[in-house]
Amino acid sequence: MRKICIINQKGGVGKTTTSVNIGSGLSRMNKKVLIIDLDPQAHIATCLSSGSATKDMYSLIVESADIKECVKPLGKNLDIISSDEDLLEAEKWLLGQKSKETILKKKLQALSGYDYVIIDCPPSLGILTTNALMYANEAFIPVSTDFLGMSGLKAVARLVRDINKEYDHSIRITKIIPTMYDMRSKHSTQVLNELKNEFYEIVSDPIRINTKLKEAPKYGKSIFSYDKNSRGAKDYQKLINSVIYDEKRVKVDDEQSESALLKKLVAA
Ligand SMILES: Nc1ncnc2c1ncn2[C@@H]1O[C@H](COP(=O)(O)OP(=O)(O)OP(=O)(O)O)[C@@H](O)[C@H]1O
Ligand SMILES: [Mg+2]
Repeated sequence: MRKICIINQKGGVGKTTTSVNIGSGLSRMNKKVLIIDLDPQAHIATCLSSGSATKDMYSLIVESADIKECVKPLGKNLDIISSDEDLLEAEKWLLGQKSKETILKKKLQALSGYDYVIIDCPPSLGILTTNALMYANEAFIPVSTDFLGMSGLKAVARLVRDINKEYDHSIRITKIIPTMYDMRSKHSTQVLNELKNEFYEIVSDPIRINTKLKEAPKYGKSIFSYDKNSRGAKDYQKLINSVIYDEKRVKVDDEQSESALLKKLVAA
């Protein structure tokens, strides 16, 4: 089971769009997927028009609800655990708990039977994101190429490094995803090139700016059911193919090269 959190403390870089479309796309390729919304803005349920579940992330974290009651089936291979603004309360509650960083990990321990668990994180590096990092074994970082670019990467890398060190954890940053790419913009191309030069090992092909990606959530659809011929669908499909390819890739990168990569990211 690959446990992937989608993180960046910067808002509006495409975390939710990436979570929804990678999750839906993988499920269409016969992977069993669970998407978890760990953002009090609660955009996942809107993006995938799931209605409201009786139990959600708040119930799971604070009320110790049975995880089976919190999981909502959305499609053949796709389930979600949704959130609403109550998650802000859960965040406050977490801060008062002992071992507050590992509570989500404990609550999700019983999960099984999925090929992928994908966690959409809030735009902060607070306790919710820390909990996601402590549960997951991989982190994907969407980086917007439209402004400021690489700023933000460093803070995420630092948090990952510190968490691994402090808790003897081994989460890896396995993808940096350039988003909002506009090939006509010099700035966008420059950010993409910088990312590729620095972190070629883990930088995916870019996700281009595409209005269809913005429209799809208004209809509660993934890009694949909204417009499978759009540029957005093509770019996300390419990304999904590379995520699946990584399953088979021989793990050549040992721990040493992983920590070298983290060092490079922290210094960026
Ligand atoms: N490639 C793209 N082309 C055009 N619009 C996009 C693209 N990716 C995302 N968007 C739009 O940009 C906005 C921000 O994207 P999204 O919500 O995925 O970012 P986020 O990182 O999850 O934001 P937040 O930090 O607030 O949770 C949304 O309106 C989304 O539809
Ligand atoms: Mg979001």
